[in-house]
Amino acid sequence: MQNVKEILQNMTLEEKAAQLVQIPYAHVGREKAIEWAKRGAGSFLHVFGDDARELQKIAVESAAHIPLLFGIDAVHGHCLNRKATVFPTQLSMACSFNPLLVKRMAEAAAKEISADGLHQTFSPVLCLGRDIRWGRVDETFGEDSYLAGELGAAAVQGYQGEDNAADTSVIACAKHYIGYGEATGARDSYDTPITYRKVKDTFLPPFEKAVKAGLASIMTAYGSIDGTPCTSDKKLLKEILKEQLGFDGFVVTDWENVGHLIREQRVAANEKEASRLAIESGNDMMMSAPEFYEAIIELVRGGEVEEKLLDDAVERILNVKMRFGLFANSFKQADEKFLGCEEHLRLNKEIARESTVLLKNNGVLPLNGRKKILVVGPSADDIRCNYGDWTYFSHPLPNYDTKPERPYITFLEGVKELAKEYDCAAEYVKGAEINEAIAGGIATAAKAAEKADVILFACGDNIELAAEGRDRADMRLPEAQRELFGALCKAGKPIVTALICTKPLCAPEIDEGSAAVLTNFNGGMFGGLALAEVIFGAINPCGKLPVSFPYHVGQQPCYYNQLPGWHCRNYVDMPETPLYGFGHGLSYTKFAYSNLAFDEKTLTLRVKVKNTGVRAGKETVQVYFRDLVSSVLTPVKRLIAFRKVQLRAGESRELEFAFTRADFSFVNAREERVTEPGEFEIMVGGSSADGDLIKLNFIIED
Ligand code: NOJ
Repeated sequence: MQNVKEILQNMTLEEKAAQLVQIPYAHVGREKAIEWAKRGAGSFLHVFGDDARELQKIAVESAAHIPLLFGIDAVHGHCLNRKATVFPTQLSMACSFNPLLVKRMAEAAAKEISADGLHQTFSPVLCLGRDIRWGRVDETFGEDSYLAGELGAAAVQGYQGEDNAADTSVIACAKHYIGYGEATGARDSYDTPITYRKVKDTFLPPFEKAVKAGLASIMTAYGSIDGTPCTSDKKLLKEILKEQLGFDGFVVTDWENVGHLIREQRVAANEKEASRLAIESGNDMMMSAPEFYEAIIELVRGGEVEEKLLDDAVERILNVKMRFGLFANSFKQADEKFLGCEEHLRLNKEIARESTVLLKNNGVLPLNGRKKILVVGPSADDIRCNYGDWTYFSHPLPNYDTKPERPYITFLEGVKELAKEYDCAAEYVKGAEINEAIAGGIATAAKAAEKADVILFACGDNIELAAEGRDRADMRLPEAQRELFGALCKAGKPIVTALICTKPLCAPEIDEGSAAVLTNFNGGMFGGLALAEVIFGAINPCGKLPVSFPYHVGQQPCYYNQLPGWHCRNYVDMPETPLYGFGHGLSYTKFAYSNLAFDEKTLTLRVKVKNTGVRAGKETVQVYFRDLVSSVLTPVKRLIAFRKVQLRAGESRELEFAFTRADFSFVNAREERVTEPGEFEIMVGGSSADGDLIKLNFIIED
């Protein structure tokens, strides 16, 4: 077999240009797709099964003999295929604070993606979800850079496997590089005023960890940073990513990003200008930009772009194709039996259980001796609410209808199943739609409430109120559901609210009116079951919030790692802290922290954690630090480690965390990552709230 350099040497300019485009199959249609395959296109996205195999045959038999690479949005499982396992969304999975589970999810997803003969997944999302108005917060691992990095690296390892060339390994594509979630006003793809210092300090580390984990592709963001589109930002793509981080995979633009430079962002007047900018800035593959092909050929022929730039980009793409075994086995495909198989469904349940967060409990949970259960709410029996975005429900593609072919359990079904076991009776009244009233819905629910011992209210939003291009300004629970809840409150019965939502909502009235509140966001096929299991006490909840729930949208952003210096530190009409903060999550047992010690020489932390309750449980021990005096403002606390421990009732464990100086670093005004000697504070506990943390100070010497 030829090596990449030899293949490159034999390629014509046209073949090189074609290698740099990723063609959207569903948009161009079969006929045009075939033309592209003959021409030697590098890649297609959103094509499946026989259609993909047909194109691959054409490509490998074409003059260039270069196999195609097929990309797909499989962001929480291969969810555009109705036979596949629909795992919890990234935000939901992040509640598990469990990188190993995320890695196992990615391994399972990779098998299912490969079972369809596809090679690249546009996942993980490493943007931070720091403003809940942004439509895509559900796709992130939440608001914290450290957590996103740990989970993101685990996902990359899981997707790509130890042997990249194996039939069951796929190319991960971390996205969206960079700062996409920080758009002003949370307006998707809009400009963000963050500086490069902040990029390097806060938004780059998750990508850096993904690169260290062997990331083979990365997608640029739609947005712009202080007026420079990420797709035309040489400093971001070439200097920082390729040179400083040593990224050796390929950069793919987001959908039509080259065209956006002309039509949306207006930094280029025509296709030629946009194409030149894209290649010169360091993009290697242009997603959904077929115009790039002709434009770049003309530019090279006219001497306006050096052919060397195309060579570098093609080489990166071919290297990845070689590394993932596409030259050796262009039709590589895993066994179809992986799609939605029993083992993956079991893993899915495990993730949903570990990702369920108990937000409030005045003692009503686990349900005890309450025989007559009334389930109310639009999210109770609609699996689309658990599946969330990027499933075949939200993105119907050709050849795929919307009938799930694999088992799932809605919240209502879960409650009914558990009710039988616990000898209770469960009745259901929908009461309202997600975003509109039902005639007589409130009256029927209120009447049923009179006879109930306990009300389980399942409420939230759905992908009509969130997703790409669906940012929201009003983050309250929709009015129809608020009214329904108000009527239920009047019945005077204890209410347990299950928030089945894409991302946090501002619902202080739910907290106030409910005896208990829990969530697992879009928990996938078994999200509803996991909520029911927690309610009945069949499992002890251990999820923690990866993102804060504000009281009011006006508090945005209210992520935990704020900078100091807010004069007065609160609004006149709103608390400074969120309703439920980062890292928060209750259990049916209690954990006590003690014996905190820090060895300044070895930078080792020790702490004792004890389960002081009467039930076994899992706790996520969280370690935060603060640099007490630094040359630029640094956050009031920053997560630097976490560990999940399982403890029997009464059991205690000494934990040790070993750090390096670099763990206490930040990026200074010269854009250098530094650890400045001096006094630091270290904080350990079960959430980011001050009241949940034990603390001590230590010194890092010069
Ligand atoms: C646009 C989205 O921003 C990106 O996340 C996705 O992977 C691509 N479209 C491909 O569908």
